[in-house]
Amino acid sequence: MADLGFDGKVAIVTGAGGGLGRSHVLELARRGALVVVNDLGGSVDGTGSGTTAAQAVVDEVTAAGGEAVANYDSVATPEGGRAIVQTALDAFGRVDILVNNAGILRDASFKNMDAAKLEPVLDVHLKGAFFVTQPAWAHMRDQGYGRIVNTSSGAGVFGNFGQANYGAAKMGLVGLTRVLAIEGAKYGIKVNAIAPVAKTRMTEDILGPAADKMLPESITPVVAYLAHEDCPVSGEVYSVGGGRVARVFIGVTPGVVDPGLTVETVRDRFDEIRDETGYQVPASLNDEMMLALQALS
Ligand code: NAI
Repeated sequence: MADLGFDGKVAIVTGAGGGLGRSHVLELARRGALVVVNDLGGSVDGTGSGTTAAQAVVDEVTAAGGEAVANYDSVATPEGGRAIVQTALDAFGRVDILVNNAGILRDASFKNMDAAKLEPVLDVHLKGAFFVTQPAWAHMRDQGYGRIVNTSSGAGVFGNFGQANYGAAKMGLVGLTRVLAIEGAKYGIKVNAIAPVAKTRMTEDILGPAADKMLPESITPVVAYLAHEDCPVSGEVYSVGGGRVARVFIGVTPGVVDPGLTVETVRDRFDEIRDETGYQVPASLNDEMMLALQALS
């Protein structure tokens, strides 16, 4: 089969001045995409800003013979989101691919979590994806085509100590992914998410000896496939790291049906309720409602 190319496609990658975003940009551009390299240029905790990081990645693309433009707006406001999408329209006239990747960390145990740690994290990860996607969505709908890849995290999908803010934001992105997959279906827009693990400035202190096997470049092939015209799925989440790729899904157990349910029957049948044998993976709320109605009938 032929290699997967992106000729003529316009991609926006947010938070692409380093780490995973930079790797995504280099690969998409190498395969022919015209890319907007967005990055606010701050530190891991979201303080500060600058133009150097995004511009350096644009320079790398250009040096390799590709085409890219820089944008330095924050994803965390509606105006920032609009300006990022406008950069793509001004430079390249369209938007086909959006990789929501910008992120910050403000870890603390839940006891020590406060608004200053919660709000910026929700603003960048969750609201940021919302604010950039919405203006891109209008164009994708009009052109009947779009690919969106959101960057979630195992910290939210599976849970991780000290990341209540980040985990909530990242699992919020799974909800956003699933709703947009449903809303985008009739417009040719596919929306998926990754839960990556890779050595970047965000994780270099926590990955330990495995870090050197977990490079950003091992995340990018999954992002590029999900961003490609040939992507066969929408509303899905993939765990990716160091060359391992696996699907993550939310399933429901067959459970129990008991019209006379009491607290004691819940207690007595709890193992049955939890039994994963014969679980199903609903594609939507409707699907899950159908399962519930079938069980009741
Ligand atoms: P990174 O810190 O190298 O990249 C994040 C980028 O986002 C930075 O360049 C930063 O300047 C930019 N950014 C932050 N706030 C922004 C804003 N308001 N507007 C625009 N840009 C902004 O870290 P990394 O690891 O490459 O992170 C990329 C994404 O992957 C993040 O969403 C992160 O949460 C996620 N992730 C990373 C994991 C890992 O193992 N490295 C694990 C799970 C998720």
